Amino acid sequence: MKKTCYVTTPIYYASGNVHIGNSYSTIVCDCFARYNRLKGNDTFFLTGMDEHGLKIEETAKKQGLTPQQLVDKVAESTKELWKKLNITNDDFIRTSEERHVKVVQQIFEKLLANGDIYLGKYEGDYCVSCEAYFTKTQLGEGDTCPDCGKPTRKIQEESYFLNLKKYSDRLLDFIEKNPNFIQPESRRNEVVSFIKQGLEDLCVSRTSFKWGIPVLSNPKHVIYVWIDALSNYITALGYGSENDELYKKFWLNGDEVVHVVGKDILRFHAIYWPIMLMALDIPIKYKLYVHGWFLMKEGKMSKSTGNIVYPMDVVNRYGLDALRYYLIREMPLGNDSIFSYERFIDKYNTDLANDLGNLISRTVAMINKYFGGQVVKPNKNYFSYDSQLEETLELTINKYNDYFSNFRFQNGINEIWNLISRTNKYIDETAPWVLAKDESQKESLNCVMYHLFESIRNINIMISPIMPDASEKISEYLGTNLTKFEDLGYGKTVASKVIEKADVLFKRLDAIKELEYQKEEALKKMVKPNDFKDEITIDDFQKVDLRVGEVISAEKMEKSDKLLILKVNVSGEIRQIVSGIADFYSPEEMVGKKVVVVANLKPIKLRGYDSQGMILAASSSKKSLEVLEVEKENSNAKVG
Ligand code: MSP
Repeated sequence: MKKTCYVTTPIYYASGNVHIGNSYSTIVCDCFARYNRLKGNDTFFLTGMDEHGLKIEETAKKQGLTPQQLVDKVAESTKELWKKLNITNDDFIRTSEERHVKVVQQIFEKLLANGDIYLGKYEGDYCVSCEAYFTKTQLGEGDTCPDCGKPTRKIQEESYFLNLKKYSDRLLDFIEKNPNFIQPESRRNEVVSFIKQGLEDLCVSRTSFKWGIPVLSNPKHVIYVWIDALSNYITALGYGSENDELYKKFWLNGDEVVHVVGKDILRFHAIYWPIMLMALDIPIKYKLYVHGWFLMKEGKMSKSTGNIVYPMDVVNRYGLDALRYYLIREMPLGNDSIFSYERFIDKYNTDLANDLGNLISRTVAMINKYFGGQVVKPNKNYFSYDSQLEETLELTINKYNDYFSNFRFQNGINEIWNLISRTNKYIDETAPWVLAKDESQKESLNCVMYHLFESIRNINIMISPIMPDASEKISEYLGTNLTKFEDLGYGKTVASKVIEKADVLFKRLDAIKELEYQKEEALKKMVKPNDFKDEITIDDFQKVDLRVGEVISAEKMEKSDKLLILKVNVSGEIRQIVSGIADFYSPEEMVGKKVVVVANLKPIKLRGYDSQGMILAASSSKKSLEVLEVEKENSNAKVG
C-alpha cells in the first residue's frame, strides 16, 4: 500500500562550508527519499539552514558582513552544492525566513501562555561554537567544551526556561511504548539513561546577542537557537499558518516521518523536541535515525590542519555516484566511520569498476556478440545455476526492501553486492564462451544471457536511490524502461535490445597515483590565508617550541615536484624535515638559510621519508611562498 513519507535532514549551521561529514546527512536522506519515491510513496524531503545564533553573528562580523548577508551567501552556496550532489529535496527552509520566524514566535508565546516556559536567571559555561551551555561536570580540562574542545565562556543572563522536568516521565513512557522511536538501540539506551539521571530545565532565550528571533512579548530576548531550529520541521510544512495542508498531510495524518541526525544532536531531537511537541499538543510522529560521524584517520575533520574533505573535490575527480556510494556504504547506522582516500579508491576499484562495471560491460558485449544485442525471454531454464540465480535475486529484493525501509543502507548494499558477486560467478559457472562454440546450445546460451540481463536490470533498480546517474545510464545500456519498483523481480522482460557498446561506467583508478595526488592536495589545503584560527591563550602558544635552524643540506624528493628534503641543524641536532617548498626554492637556495623551525612537532612520514619538524613560511596564495629567515641569530636561538 502506498503511504506518505516525510524525511528531514538537520538544518545546517550557516556559519561555514558544508564538508563531507555533514553532507552525509543529506546524501543519506536523499537515498531514503528516492527509495520511497521508487516505491511510489508520496514523499516530502526537507533540508535547510539554521541561520541564527551568536556564532553566526560573530562569523559575519569577522567577514565584514551583516548576519543576514552571511546567511544569504551560505544558503546560496549550500543550495548550489545540493544541486550538484543530485539532492532531490522538495523544500529548503531557512530559519531567517518570515514563514518560519512568525510561527516560531507564536510557538514561543503559546508555550509561555501554557506555563511551559517561565522567566528565570541563568549563569553557565557557554560554548559559542556549539551554541550550548554545559554543566561543570560536563566541561573538559580548563573549562573547555566537552563536544568541540574549545574554551567556554561564563555567561549570566535573565532567561526563559522550558520546563523539561514536568514532561520527563511522560517522555520515558513514550520511549518505552515506542521502541522504534530512536534508532539504533544503543542511542535509545543512551537517551533513556540521560533522562533517568534527571533533566534540568532548558534555557530557551538569550539577551547576550541580537541575531535571533525576538520573543514577541519581551523583545530584548531572542529565542535560543534550539527552539527556533527544531521548529523548522513543522514550520516548513506550514504548521501555524493559513496554508497548512502539507502539515496535515505529512505530519498530522502522515504515515511515516523520519528525522535523520548525527550523534552530536541526539539529545536535542530525542528529548527537547518531543517535549516541545508534547507541550504544544502536537503528536510525536517521527522516528529518529541517528548516524555516527565521518572521521579522518587523524581524528575529527578540521579546517586548520587541512584535515578536511569537501564533497565537490571528490565529485570533480571521481564522479558523484562514487562519492554517494562510498558514503552510504561505509557508514553503519549508529557508529563512526573513517573517511580515507585509501579506502575510497579501494572500494571504487573493487566494487564499482570491477564487480559492477565489469559485469555490465561483459554482459552487454556478450549479448552483442552472440545475439546481435537482442535479449529474448527463454521458454525454460537449462542449468541448475539458473534457478539458483533467480532465488538469490528474489531473496536479495526482499532483504533489500527490509533494510532500505529501515534505514539500514549499509546492510542493503551488502545484499546487492552479494547478488552482483553471485551473478559474476554465474558467468563462470555457465561459461557462455563455451556454449557459444556449439550451435545446439543456442537456446541455453540465450537463457544465460537473459538471466544476466535480468539480474543486472534488478540490481540497477535497487541501486538507483544510491547512484541515480549510473542507474540511468545502465537502463540506457540495457535498453529497458522496466525500472520501477513494481518491475523488480526475475522474468519481467519479454524482449530488449541492448546498446552496441557500453561506455565504461567507472574507470579503474591508479591507486598509487591517486594517493600521491591526494596527499599533495592535503598539503596545499594546510595553507589558508585570510582565515583566522580560533583564539588561543599564551599557554597554548608556549606549547610550540620554535627554534632557529640552519639548513645544511637540501635535495629534491624523487618523483615529487613539490617536496624538498632538508637537513637542518636545530640547537646542535640534525633534523630531517620534508617541506612542500620545491615550487619556490631550489635545494641550492635553501642551503645556508637560517629558518624558523617548529621543533616539537610530532614526527611524521611523508612519502616514506621521516619529517622531524616543520619550517615556517608565509604564503598569500598558492602561487607565492616565502620562507621565514633570521639574519643575525644562530641555530642555538629560540623563537618566541
Ligand atoms: N544546526 C544544527 C542542527 C539543527 S537541526 C534542528 C547542527 N548543524 S551542523 O551543521 O553543525 O551539523 C549538521 C549535521 O551534520 C549534524 O547531524 C551533524 O551530526 C552532522 N555532521 C557534522 N560533522 C559530521 C561528520 N564529520 N560526519 C557525519 N556527520 C557530521 O548541528
